[in-house]
Amino acid sequence: MLILAGRTSKVLFVVSILLAFSFLAPVHAQDNSHPWWQRAVFYEIYPRSFADSNNDGLGDLRGITAKLDYLRTLGVDAIWISPCYPSPQFDFGYDVADYENIDPMYGTLADFDVLAREAHKRGIRIIMDFVVNHTSYRHPWFLESKSSRNSPRRDWYIWRDGKGLGQPPNNWESSFGGSAWTFDPATGQYYYHYFETEQPDLNWRNPSVEKAMFDVTRFWRKHGVDGFRLDAVDLLFENPDLKDNPVLPGKNEFGDPNMTNKYNDNLPEVHKELQRLRKVTDANGQVLIGETWTDSIGELNAYYGPHQNEIQLPMDFMFTTVNKPSASGFRKQIRLAESAAGWPVFVIGNHDIVRSYTRYGDGKHNDQIAKLMAGMYLTLRGTPILYYGEELGMENHDPVRKQDVRDPLGQHGWPKQKGRDGERTPMQWDASRNAGFTQGTPWLPVDPGYKTYNVASESKDAASILNFYRRLLSIRRLSPALLDGDYIPIGQDDPDILAYLRRSGKETVLVALNFSNSSRPFDMSLARQGSPHAKSGVLLTTSMADGTVNGEQHVILLSPYAVYIARITP
Ligand code: GLC
Repeated sequence: MLILAGRTSKVLFVVSILLAFSFLAPVHAQDNSHPWWQRAVFYEIYPRSFADSNNDGLGDLRGITAKLDYLRTLGVDAIWISPCYPSPQFDFGYDVADYENIDPMYGTLADFDVLAREAHKRGIRIIMDFVVNHTSYRHPWFLESKSSRNSPRRDWYIWRDGKGLGQPPNNWESSFGGSAWTFDPATGQYYYHYFETEQPDLNWRNPSVEKAMFDVTRFWRKHGVDGFRLDAVDLLFENPDLKDNPVLPGKNEFGDPNMTNKYNDNLPEVHKELQRLRKVTDANGQVLIGETWTDSIGELNAYYGPHQNEIQLPMDFMFTTVNKPSASGFRKQIRLAESAAGWPVFVIGNHDIVRSYTRYGDGKHNDQIAKLMAGMYLTLRGTPILYYGEELGMENHDPVRKQDVRDPLGQHGWPKQKGRDGERTPMQWDASRNAGFTQGTPWLPVDPGYKTYNVASESKDAASILNFYRRLLSIRRLSPALLDGDYIPIGQDDPDILAYLRRSGKETVLVALNFSNSSRPFDMSLARQGSPHAKSGVLLTTSMADGTVNGEQHVILLSPYAVYIARITP
């Protein structure tokens, strides 16, 4: 619940009024030294599940266009649309059959143009999901490649002879279970697919593949696309000798032997290729965001490029490895992100990860924890990428029976791996049937929590998660310190309170976050940093406790999982 603590409530009321006006225009605090994507708030839309304009149970582009004002009011500067290209939908669009069109289930290219135009009018940029590693097995390139060993496009994909009768070329495994090789009886060879059989890997060592893919970026530039999220970018290259991967003890959730993907994941060649791609997207004026799964800051740093000439925004998934509210866990991850070679990118959820509300919730303080997580990652130095519905407190709604599973990952891995349907359920717009997502039958069931957690109801509730996100994003938008000030950790030994200053030449903002389930004192002198008379003005808090001493805030009491954000004036 958002509580306007004691004497600070008037201040907050005024702040809220000012913020209400700030919703009207896409104004950022003045400073032209940062490229737009360093100040922007990104928002991932899973188009099947966002808004259905024609009531066929599937979201579509016109649905997104109709919700642009909602996104503007929320404080979003760019939307990343998960794949909406023509696709047989084996992996719900991550199996592309034509990179230069829109799947009829989502609309037409003309609908896309309207979406881009309307978004730009509102100051919202458009990021396309670029599935660079593989296509659909129904892409004309693959059909041609498969047609004969002599096809001019044979080498666009990775074809090899088996080791012997019924034996694939090596031991590589598909991340969806089973071998990464599928035999094609017509031509007597195997093709390689890191993911599903229906998703053959492109051969990026072939210059014609590179050219065709680079042309795709130019195509979308003409349609107003401002950048790309590079799907599975770490997998572009494979060891040309196809060496077996080292096998580890035990089995994975599909029952296959565990192994290290030493020879088909994160190969050094990927960086040279990204540098080449970057030249093209720079010429197009487009930004690159990376789906960059890394195990160390060194690996993440490599994606920025030796001269900041690869991906501008590689996602830091190491942040998502802290799987419970933990001041020390996040303090450590933030320290690492702060040491990164480039601008940090923060993500707490997406279409492949259990929703943050579910991951971090303790069953008792879930709403407070949802605000706490936002209070943290939206006030760090870096670009945040929200996942649709996170701002409402949408939770995972996993299938309970195998026959209800839609995601191929869950179909293969059930019951150990339930798949990703749970985090892809329809957006919750209101308390009406199907949460206002569709009048038809939604492709996935709506989470039963929608009656409370939806845009319409939460908009009316000053204490809702949605209104917390709106206020926070408004404060961020107008605060030079939060946009790009330094990150200065304070009280670093505190096991429960994660606290830091964000300081620019013009402003200092304190963020204190109580990561424990009981009230905790926070010593404000830490925030005053040698200026004992510094004043603090609360910008936003969820704390129900008010700790003042003789009218002065020396020690403030933070209620369980509270967020406290204040401006410090010398
Ligand atoms: C990426 C996508 C995921 C998809 C996979 C294969 O990891 O985020 O949803 O299944 O690539 O394209």
